[in-house]
Amino acid sequence: MSEELVRLARQVGREAASLVRARRPEGRVDVTATKSSPTDVVTAVDTASEELIRSRLLGERPDDGFLGEEGDGIEGASGVVWVVDPIDGTVNFVYGIPAYAVSIAARVDGVVRAAYVTNVASGEEWGAVRGAGSWRWVADERRALTPQPVAELSQALVGTGFSYSREVREKQAAAVGRLLPQVRDVRRIGAAALDLCSLAEGRLDAYVEQGLKPWDVAAGGLVAHEAGIVVTGLDGAPDERLVMATHHALAEEYFEVVRACGF
Ligand code: IPD
Ligand code: CA
Repeated sequence: MSEELVRLARQVGREAASLVRARRPEGRVDVTATKSSPTDVVTAVDTASEELIRSRLLGERPDDGFLGEEGDGIEGASGVVWVVDPIDGTVNFVYGIPAYAVSIAARVDGVVRAAYVTNVASGEEWGAVRGAGSWRWVADERRALTPQPVAELSQALVGTGFSYSREVREKQAAAVGRLLPQVRDVRRIGAAALDLCSLAEGRLDAYVEQGLKPWDVAAGGLVAHEAGIVVTGLDGAPDERLVMATHHALAEEYFEVVRACGF
């Protein structure tokens, strides 16, 4: 069944990516609303992308549930819930920075089983099926993602991000300040799904972020996990409190350092 779910996720995700691409004008995009804070923006294209994804997925599978960033959730009756970010990296989308994604995951009885992420600007696509690996698509060919050679912690390039809440940001900035001297450098790319796929690709060595929602992490988290990355939270499963991820060989040391930095 997971194969069928990933096939549908890709079909619908590509259609949504085309919509997002076509509706991005030159220059700066208009912001239609703000959510949790004045810097947490939503555009008409986020809403249109989510409506398209929801109608296509539930058109094919009417008994499924749906959890998207922009609209109301639907519980569903099939045991499958689609967890969707219609644009991950909305601020990049607004400014025209080419790192924003469509992210679609299928959760089956509470466990993410299938995942699809595409960087709308570059056209790159990643997929994963739990227990069957993760890959990058090159046209229709699946190129498996495998663990990359591991740097020492002092050589690790760490992806991170900041919450939209001022109070949380202050704490995150202080924690990142403590982490920075212990690693190669940090990157704040601006789209959590792409950070996690980058980790799976070997474009980052580690990742840490607080305040992520399920749609930010569901698909990218499975792509990373299936590429041999440990994705975890403060005391077990990754959650809004903390998501941290790295290679097995670095995991124990890195997670300890992240905790000690006060994340
Ligand atoms: C955001 C991005 C960003 C992360 C934020 C997320 P959005 O998602 O993933 O990298 O730092 O925490 O909210 O709002 O662009 O969908
Ligand atoms: Ca979003």
